[in-house]
Amino acid sequence: MEIFHISAECYPVAKVGGLADVVGALPKYQNNVGHLVRVVIPCYDTKFRKENKFECIYSDTITLGSFNFSFNILKEKTDKLGFELYLVEIPELFDRKDVYGYEDDIERFLSFQIATLAWITNRNEVPDVINCHDHHSGLIPFMMLYCHKYEKLRNTPSMITIHNGLYQGQFGFDKLYYLPEFDLVHVKVLEWDNCINSLAVAIKCAWAVTTVSPNYLNEINYSANGLESLFNLVRYKSRGILNGIDVEVWDPAKDAMLSTNYSIKNFEKGKQENKEKLCNLFNLDPTKPLFSFIGRLLEEKGGDLLPHASALALSENYQQINILILGSGNTAIENQLNDLLSDYKGNYNTFIGYNEELAHLIYAGSDFLLMPSRVEPCGLNQMYSLRYGTIPIVRRTGGLRDTVIDFGDDGNGICHDQATVGDVCYSIQRAVNLYKDKEHLNKIIKIGMNTDHSWERVCQEYIEMYKLISNKK
Ligand code: GLC
Repeated sequence: MEIFHISAECYPVAKVGGLADVVGALPKYQNNVGHLVRVVIPCYDTKFRKENKFECIYSDTITLGSFNFSFNILKEKTDKLGFELYLVEIPELFDRKDVYGYEDDIERFLSFQIATLAWITNRNEVPDVINCHDHHSGLIPFMMLYCHKYEKLRNTPSMITIHNGLYQGQFGFDKLYYLPEFDLVHVKVLEWDNCINSLAVAIKCAWAVTTVSPNYLNEINYSANGLESLFNLVRYKSRGILNGIDVEVWDPAKDAMLSTNYSIKNFEKGKQENKEKLCNLFNLDPTKPLFSFIGRLLEEKGGDLLPHASALALSENYQQINILILGSGNTAIENQLNDLLSDYKGNYNTFIGYNEELAHLIYAGSDFLLMPSRVEPCGLNQMYSLRYGTIPIVRRTGGLRDTVIDFGDDGNGICHDQATVGDVCYSIQRAVNLYKDKEHLNKIIKIGMNTDHSWERVCQEYIEMYKLISNKK
């Protein structure tokens, strides 16, 4: 099959969160099993763009209301990512460092979608399926169905994969004129709660809807930031497919970012050596259990619980545990976390920012990984941590519920039900006790390291879904 993935992020080209990891891995595995897979993202001013060679394969102009933008489609020359990568170059809108967070994000991602469709329509062949990811490509299924310009794609199946339903790309009807021409009888399809809602549009128009874990699909029927009733309506074309991880990038036996490589056979020694390096870097005590957090410091991820929970856990276990936080996001949370530095010197540290290499070392050198998420459509960090022999401590929600089972039920981690300081601290206390029983601890670590979360297993489920909708052509 010829498959297009359209997304705002793709690792290692441009990454903000887990969306990038998925779009950087799933296509590779689909390619490996014989499909022709093309990934399309905007051309940001990133390191990858500067350090790699591209050829321009298509140039054109698009109209966004009264604005005209010239664009180029740049193809990465070597296909070294394991799939064909295409960047949509619209210099005025995307030649910037960050992926999101600009005042004109609506204009940026609309132009990206319109340019992408202009190119795809102009090719000789028609793809077998177009897989959109999150709201940044959510208007594509609508435009394929209704915009006159893309008539050629009317019978091409589209699928929307929802990585996070909290963000929906809403904008007012005053920008309706940005969209390429379509018959106004269809205008209602664009509407949700009195505005144009890109994610809602995708859910209505795509031939299939997938979420990144089965449990998240259940949850969004009653908690989806206003889209609950819509999710109920489209249940018949929806499926929850648990994400995988790229086991080539995330392999403690080969990972070049670690100080020592290790496998299930020698993880005790290997993890301790990585822990020593990490503790050295952050002035922590390598003889004590190390709890880490990696991710965006947002309420959604339970980031606001971390300052209070860390202070409480560190006071209750004075000099008996270490906590290390890597992440950035909400400035108030960042400041609160940094305010603790002086009180718990030697047992607590932070790295405010994003650092992929450090993240790898933290997965390897930590004993426990904290994920107190309020919302977690899938979560990849718990899978990375399981593979690196670090026990995840998670709130039972979304994909965390699908992947982490409490050790009290013979599982691979530690679970709590509420996103509260009390629940997080209670779990840390259970971990502190568990850490004293090395035999039990190692048994749980091994269960985690043995779990298979590879895309190889999962990517077939995507293909099945594409086949299912292709038959409905
Ligand atoms: C988003 C979700 C996260 C998921 C990732 C990849 O970042 O918040 O839970 O794992 O997308 O699908």
